[in-house]
Amino acid sequence: MGIPPIPAAWQRETRVRAFSPGEDPGLHAGMGEAWLEALRGALPLGAGHLDVGCGRGRMAWALACRWFPSGWSTGVDREEAPLAEARGLAGRMGFQGARFIRGDAEGEEYAAFLGGRAPGVVTAHLCMSPAIAERASRALSPGGVFAFVAFHPDLWKETGRASRFALREEETDHLLASLGFTPLFQRVERDVLRFREPREAVEQFFQGGRSVPRWREDGRWDALLAYLEGGGTTLTVRAQLQYVARKGRP
Ligand SMILES: C[S@@+](CC[C@H](N)C(=O)[O-])C[C@H]1O[C@@H](n2cnc3c(N)ncnc32)[C@H](O)[C@@H]1O
Repeated sequence: MGIPPIPAAWQRETRVRAFSPGEDPGLHAGMGEAWLEALRGALPLGAGHLDVGCGRGRMAWALACRWFPSGWSTGVDREEAPLAEARGLAGRMGFQGARFIRGDAEGEEYAAFLGGRAPGVVTAHLCMSPAIAERASRALSPGGVFAFVAFHPDLWKETGRASRFALREEETDHLLASLGFTPLFQRVERDVLRFREPREAVEQFFQGGRSVPRWREDGRWDALLAYLEGGGTTLTVRAQLQYVARKGRP
């Protein structure tokens, strides 16, 4: 018998605005304020924090108001360069208790990163997969919090191709329920930019394609041009599936 789906309590917000010159092509990775507030609210002060796919440590700084100074934060990434930046920043900011270590968040068990300590929260911001959710579930004790953000399939939907890492609401609910999590916060947040003419999107937002170097190889660049030349004026430049869940049943 399958696991019954969790009743949906999804918030959905789409913000549409006109493009203005100087908009950052990295908008898709912007951290959601509502998600961050929900996560901070679910965390006891002094908690231990494990961040997988930590990059340059953005999550550790965003949650420092909860774990610092009496708790700790461990970031894991498979790339050394962002880890070195994160370590440098932690030193300059005086964040004792922050560690950044190299590891494979989809291949290793999280006990390997934790040195016998139990995290109160595991985060995965734009580095999320079923393998990560399974490991987070095994690393957390009942009551612990798993918070993640994944791309939603609507990101760049105008190019006709969703990210292979994108997650939909229903599959995420099923995955989390199967791992024994109860949702506290579920949200899909989209930002749509409206352009006056195709050239504005191509030249000013995508810098002639330089901001999306792989799109020429995988066909998305041609699909984007066809969409704009066919009269398309809007682009979904940010679409995130945001989730906070607690281990265990309510
Ligand atoms: C889009 S970045 C997000 C970085 C950070 N979480 C943030 O939001 O600023 C994804 C990060 O996940 C890391 N990553 C991807 N797969 C990984 C894996 N299996 N194990 C560890 N890190 C991984 C990448 O190296 C990269 O730093």
